Parts: sequence; C-alpha cells; structure tokens
Amino acid sequence: MRKPIRKAILPVAGLGTRFLPATKAVPKEMLPVVDRPVVQHVVDEALAAGIEHIVFVTGRNKAVIEDHFDRQFELERTLQERGKQKLLEELGDDTPKPGTTSFTRQQLPLGLGHAVWCARDIIADEPFALLLPDMLHFTPEGQGCLSDMVEAYEETGGNVVSVYEVPDDQVHQYGIVGVEPRPGKAQAITSMVEKPRREDAPSNLAISGRYILQPTIFDLLARQDPGAGGEIQLTDAMLKLNERERFFSVTFEGRVYDCGSKIGFLMANAAYALSRPDIEPQYRTELAALLAQD
Ligand code: G1P
Repeated sequence: MRKPIRKAILPVAGLGTRFLPATKAVPKEMLPVVDRPVVQHVVDEALAAGIEHIVFVTGRNKAVIEDHFDRQFELERTLQERGKQKLLEELGDDTPKPGTTSFTRQQLPLGLGHAVWCARDIIADEPFALLLPDMLHFTPEGQGCLSDMVEAYEETGGNVVSVYEVPDDQVHQYGIVGVEPRPGKAQAITSMVEKPRREDAPSNLAISGRYILQPTIFDLLARQDPGAGGEIQLTDAMLKLNERERFFSVTFEGRVYDCGSKIGFLMANAAYALSRPDIEPQYRTELAALLAQD
C-alpha cells in the first residue's frame, strides 16, 4: 500500500514585483481571478484532490493570506443579521477546518527549493504535493490537475510532476523534462533541466508547477548549492533524487495560466469569467463589443 498524499505545500513568499504597484500592500496571491483570490483557486484544486492539510510557506507582508483562510466572525454576524444565508454558507465552505492549515515563513528569498525545504518539519516523513500558486490549471469540466496526478501516483509511486507543452521560445522560462513513453497515464522522465536555452532543451514539455514528491527531497535540498539565478532550485535537487528514485510526468490536458505574468493573469480572468454561468452571458456580449470597437 502506498502512503496517501495528505499534505500539500503552497509557497507564497514571492515578492510579486511584476505586479507593482498593485502588490505594494496586497500579496500577488490575493489578486482576484473573478471573485476568488488566485491562491484560493489553488487551494480548491488541492482539496478536490483529497489533500487534508495545507502548509503555506509565507514571507513578510503576507499575513493577509493567513487571515483570508480564517473565519471572520464580525463579517459572519453581519451577513447573518442581513439574512445573507447563501453567502454565509459559501464563505463557510471555503474556510479550512480547524487544524488543517499551517503557516511557516521563508525568511530570505533564497529560491523555490529553499521555500520547500522550510516546510520540512511540518511535512515530516510523508510523500507530499507541491502546488505553485502562480500557475492556475484550468479545467472547466472533469477533474483538476492534482487529482489526475494523484491517480497516476497510485499506479506509479515515486515522484510525479505535471507538464504541458510550451512554444520553443518559452522553454527558457521553465523546468523542462525529457520523457519516454510507458503504458498508463504517466510517462517516465529521463532528463530534467531548469530554464534551458532553446538548443539545450530535451523537449518542450514544461513543468507546470504541480509536483508529488517523496520526503527524501528535503535532505537533498538542505545540501543543494545555488543554481540558475543564484537561487536554490528545486529542479536541481529533483535531478539528484532522480539518481535514486523514479520520476514520472503527467501531461495536463487543460489550460495553464501563469498568473505571475500580466497577460497570463488577464487571460485567467477571462477564462474563469467565461466559465461562470452567472457572469458569462453579459461578459461575453460586452467583451465582444469592446473587441469590435478596437
Ligand atoms: C518554477 C520552477 C520551474 C517551473 C515553474 C513553473 O520556476 O523552478 O521548473 O517550470 O516554476 O511556473 P519559477 O517560475 O519559480 O521561476
């Protein structure tokens, strides 16, 4: 029997400089995609995949994320008094149950690998999921990206990453994997490289920011030297782990929106709005009119 994936890490310590001035006082993870903060969409995906405990790796000026995932009793009372029962229930459904979240701080911006390592004591000796909140995995129908990966993991064990195809001129922005086909949902990973030059990339399959990892990664992260960009890179530690343990990729069939970029964020808003029955008709009409004016 494989150990189930019960815990997930969400690194939310990044500065969000690409969204200044919006992110001067508001963390980038709290910017809304329609009416839910980006980070809430990612928590939704984790919970839908059966995750029971979320570990947020936060930083300075991120306290509002912790407040967002707490109850707000003044607000609840006001909604109650105003008879807004449905809204109250929706807020209740979105609030994690007591004791199912942890918050720890990455005190210095030393890279994604370091952020993950900061969660080691809370994860302890279990395989875990890692979801990068900038990356929204949009599946209007069917199950979410992490659910798909958990299903693959039940068959493969080892470590699993989600990948998607990016154009050649974007491979230098991502971790890229080389794969070998095998029967079943997942492919076997044969090579991994963080932000390669186009000519060095083994394929155009980019790591999309969803991982299932074994806890042995923490020892490797503890000893990992800085890599690309002078940061402690998760991909470098994964490469070392790959010498001892198997890695698989699951190709995500939905759409990935990189909400760390302005265009990705705006497109995510458009896609999510168009998938919402309460917003779609009017939004589509007004958007079409706006585009026609252009
Ligand atoms: C990180 C990972 C990279 C992955 C990317 C997805 O890079 O290191 O392998 O492809 O996330 O967003 P970052 O975006 O933090 O530079």
